[in-house]
Amino acid sequence: MTARRRLAPEELRSHLWYGVEGALRTWSHNARMRQLGYEDEEYRGRPVIAVLNTWSDINPCHVHLRERAEAVKRGVWQAGGFPLEFPVSTLSETYQKPTPMLYRNLLAMETEELLRSYPVDAAVLLGGCDKSTPALLMGATSADVPSVFVPAGPMLPGHWRGETLGSGTDMWKYWDEHRAGNLTDCELRELQGGLARSPGHCMTMGTASTMTAAAEALGMTLPGASSVLAVDSAHERMAAASGRRAVELAWTALKPSEILTPDAFEDAVTTVLGLGGSTNAVIHLIAMAGRARVPLSLDDFDRIARTVPVLANVRPGGQTYLMEDFYFAGGLPAFLSRITDLLHLERPTVNGTLGEQLEGAVVHDDDVIRPRENPVAAEGGVAVLRGNLCPDGAVIKHIAAEQHLLKHTGPAVVFDDYRTMQRTIDDPESGITADSVLVLRNAGPKGGPGMPEYGMLPIPDHLLKQGVRDMVRISDARMSGTSYGTCVLHVAPESYVGGPLALVRTGDSITLDVGSRTLRLNVDDEELELRRSAWTAPPERFERGYGALYNDQITQADTGCDFEFLARPGKAADPYAS
Ligand code: FES
Ligand code: MG
Repeated sequence: MTARRRLAPEELRSHLWYGVEGALRTWSHNARMRQLGYEDEEYRGRPVIAVLNTWSDINPCHVHLRERAEAVKRGVWQAGGFPLEFPVSTLSETYQKPTPMLYRNLLAMETEELLRSYPVDAAVLLGGCDKSTPALLMGATSADVPSVFVPAGPMLPGHWRGETLGSGTDMWKYWDEHRAGNLTDCELRELQGGLARSPGHCMTMGTASTMTAAAEALGMTLPGASSVLAVDSAHERMAAASGRRAVELAWTALKPSEILTPDAFEDAVTTVLGLGGSTNAVIHLIAMAGRARVPLSLDDFDRIARTVPVLANVRPGGQTYLMEDFYFAGGLPAFLSRITDLLHLERPTVNGTLGEQLEGAVVHDDDVIRPRENPVAAEGGVAVLRGNLCPDGAVIKHIAAEQHLLKHTGPAVVFDDYRTMQRTIDDPESGITADSVLVLRNAGPKGGPGMPEYGMLPIPDHLLKQGVRDMVRISDARMSGTSYGTCVLHVAPESYVGGPLALVRTGDSITLDVGSRTLRLNVDDEELELRRSAWTAPPERFERGYGALYNDQITQADTGCDFEFLARPGKAADPYAS
């Protein structure tokens, strides 16, 4: 990349707070810096680097970030910057109910406003548990402050009685085995202790690994950063290097708007599809692209999916490996080195061009990162469906489904909401057979609320005992990136706002045909019109507070579930503009 002009200290944004001579505000800010314990020479004329930390006691995926922030600060000091740590909201996939997706846009808003309202020249963003990555990047994009992302890193592989366990994926698998009577309570308790062995995010190719890889592919991390395990000492070194890099980004004013181009998003989509990554990436990348004013639609995912093979043999899309194996095989740069013909190598990243990021990248294990002639799947892992049941689209991760179900017609069994489904799914009188199509509604962005990860509806007990492990399932919910099965997700518009899913009745015939990318409710239009005129909207979920704002502003899955007022173009006043 050609050398960029370096700012003079007076051109730094923080100069407005600390440097303007003769201004009362400068004098008073500097008085308060002395209160904080700093002398002028420690910060004046140096880039102020905000370290945004999503650490919390309740977030097992981020519990190591308190120490990692110290490594980032070490790097910032080394490079002549001045670090300031800002604790921001933590989005814990495990504990936050009904789902942290309800709060992704809140963290995005917090990130944006914090970067705008404080004396910040560049930022280091620490996160990784599912929604944290898109939230932090959406906020930094809207604030357009130079930023580098430090992925929390995957946890160690799970382990139990000689078996390697994957987050989420094996939890559900063994829970079903327990329900099927193949695992005792005692064994289940023992397995619980081996499932999550260290700090770090889920170590399958779930949403966390997918989104941190997307952040790297977009160009917002140092090369290889997303694959380093959370507890590897290389993670601390990467954090310190990111701190040093942030100081350079501040001096060269390299902003997200220069990095997050249409080519960058095209490459990020190619990456997540080639990794066989989470369906959640579809929603998040569309929302992130929206913040960068880059048009990105469901159809782009379907188009790109047809051009990129799945090369990462990482569960649940792949059969065998976990993120540690992927890291040892060379990590994301090695993976990307196999698809360079599909990428835009000349575009900028926080650390040179993408091509420069990939220099020297080599695959060390051809079974973990497959060669092009021996892919895990010939096409990318996500297909976009259309039809009278999902006029604005739906998605399916077809590589994680039983192949015989990808073309299937069966009778619907409809559940009006998740709790009803939980109460009644195992009822032996339900008449559910392996051919049934399970339909869950009122689980979308507004109806969920927050579009919880309910999309992998459980297989009824009596069918599990018969050996059934997959069925066609349809919902307006999302599905965890660590889930699997023939689950049609993100049906838009959602049923809560009157989408066609609201009109399905138990016994209706439904046809899924992934080959032709269609999802059809086999009921004629006249009958559907009658049902539509009889439909009444469910009661409001929220009467006040953040929920009411959410309900008012949230967009549908096909447009990324951002808030309308955050997604729309327009200027935000600079704090010192007036
Ligand atoms: Fe945090 Fe899976 S629970 S990434
Ligand atoms: Mg998850």
